[in-house]
Amino acid sequence: MCGIVGYVGPRRVVPIVLEGLKHLEYRGYDSAGIVFLEDDGLQKYRSEGKLANLVEIMDEVDTRSRIGMGHTRWATHGAPSEGNAHPHSDCTGELVVVHNGIIENYIQLRNLLRDKGHVFTSETDTEVLAHLIEEYLDGDLVQAVTLAMQDVVGAYALGVMWAQEPDKIVAVRNQSPLVLGVKEGGGSFMASDVPALLPYTNKVVYLEDGDMAILTEDSCDIFSLADGSPRDRPVQEILWNAGMAEKSGYRHFMLKEIFEQPLAITSTLRGRLEVETGVVNLPEIGLSDGELQSIKRIFLVACGTSWHAALVAKYWLEKWVRIPVEVDIASEFRYRTLLLDEHVMVIPISQSGETADTLAGLRLAKELGAKVISICNVLGSTITRESHGTIYTHAGPEIGVASTKAFTSQLAALFLLTMYMGQVRQSIEPAVARELGQGLLELPGIIEQELPRLHDELEVLAEEFVDSRDFLYLGRGIHFPIALEGALKLKEISYIHAEGYAAGELKHGPIALIDKDMPVLALTPPNEVYSKVISNVEEVKARHGRLILVGHHDNGDLAEIADDCIFLPTVHPEMQPILYTIPLQILSYHIARLRGCDVDQPRNLAKSVTVE
Ligand code: AGP
Repeated sequence: MCGIVGYVGPRRVVPIVLEGLKHLEYRGYDSAGIVFLEDDGLQKYRSEGKLANLVEIMDEVDTRSRIGMGHTRWATHGAPSEGNAHPHSDCTGELVVVHNGIIENYIQLRNLLRDKGHVFTSETDTEVLAHLIEEYLDGDLVQAVTLAMQDVVGAYALGVMWAQEPDKIVAVRNQSPLVLGVKEGGGSFMASDVPALLPYTNKVVYLEDGDMAILTEDSCDIFSLADGSPRDRPVQEILWNAGMAEKSGYRHFMLKEIFEQPLAITSTLRGRLEVETGVVNLPEIGLSDGELQSIKRIFLVACGTSWHAALVAKYWLEKWVRIPVEVDIASEFRYRTLLLDEHVMVIPISQSGETADTLAGLRLAKELGAKVISICNVLGSTITRESHGTIYTHAGPEIGVASTKAFTSQLAALFLLTMYMGQVRQSIEPAVARELGQGLLELPGIIEQELPRLHDELEVLAEEFVDSRDFLYLGRGIHFPIALEGALKLKEISYIHAEGYAAGELKHGPIALIDKDMPVLALTPPNEVYSKVISNVEEVKARHGRLILVGHHDNGDLAEIADDCIFLPTVHPEMQPILYTIPLQILSYHIARLRGCDVDQPRNLAKSVTVE
């Protein structure tokens, strides 16, 4: 996610903004910029790449300005570049904005503003806001921002400055975080997150959706964006140190990212799924309806956790789009004899967009004439630049090496793709599409509701397995890939040997491993193979295996069989794989933490494997 810092007060603004941006680097970004006000107007400096590049530029700039804003950009619309870096200006150069979020209707607004003569210099959705506010400017910045934001659909944390009102910064928040810093006699601060404020104050005010704040050297007042009425928000005292604050108070980025999954899925769905009809809009796919209708086979290609997402998607695509689907580990895909042509769609799946094996598979698929549509979390990454089209997950930067929110966001994106292809190929009835869409839309709220309970329950259960040497995860059908994912999560952060297995395979070998020291976790959701899985786990029980069952909270039978149960609520059956992943993530996190492992940076692992 992008980082915003703003200040107005008695001190020089440039050092404060640059220091604040440094404390937001953990959020991930690919360019940075700063703007401040001098007597001769707004001065703007931007640079691609790391913040150090901007700092180097600013070392040569001598200014005593005391009002300004800075930004680190996590690209969502428009590749990483200086031209797309924030701040963005209106036509006059007298008004600037910094923004974190997604403006869903930016294309319509940009066309309207172009028709009115506005000239755009970037590919970003953010620049539209600068020109829109300019359009409404009539001598009053607050009024112009108020009117402009009524035309905007989407998520935004926004900072605005206008040279003709040199004493203030206007801040607005809707679905993207924005925090104010309060310091007696020390000016007013704003930032995307607390770490940027802690060097100056630990007294903060969290803006809420629909809040507008007006920051001056002596005041920081909050109003309703809708009607201008004053809003009173409590001042909170932050007791974290800066390091803890980067993790928003969580011990590790992985735990923070586990808890960010409802937002990550919501952001991935935003603007793509119509609530009432279940109609999916994926213009970024880059293929016409005719091309999609001509697809005869699909290959899903990925590594690690992304490969597990591919395995889940195979079930969805074959069931709802009625196309044969093959799934390949990327490092294997490229060494097969591939019979591909223009009627084959190859879907590389990658959080980072830089995984060497997946990239090599993509290039081979393109050479052989296939249509390549990637699923990726990093805009402008190599895999996205070389694909015919990309469906982005909007999970925000994933810092923990163990993938969590990116995985569940990949599944959400893959289900959207399934629905979209079913819609184009008319293999999903509209009534069914509406039901599937509802199932997907209600999922983030259900996860949000369950996370605290699962965290606390699994923190206790994890203590039983701190000294385990092995672990077996069982799943059947669409939950077999989830068993694989649970095993990967555990092994990569706790270093306990763990295997995921198709439950039906138990008696073909792995059952020889079962004894009282072998923990076995089985996924037993209410579905068509439930009774089969129960038969499988009875075999484990009969051999005194240590059995954990993950199932529906109304299923009293589970406690009869299992040593421990993890209960989950009802969700749409197609959404079960996503929900049933969550406890496996949390269990592996706590076991690894209790073992004293480096949860965010496990030994031997890198966040992105850019070598073959
Ligand atoms: C997942 O927890 C691992 N960190 C790893 O398997 C990862 O999924 C794999 O390296 C693929 O990375 P990508 O999604 O960035 O391509």
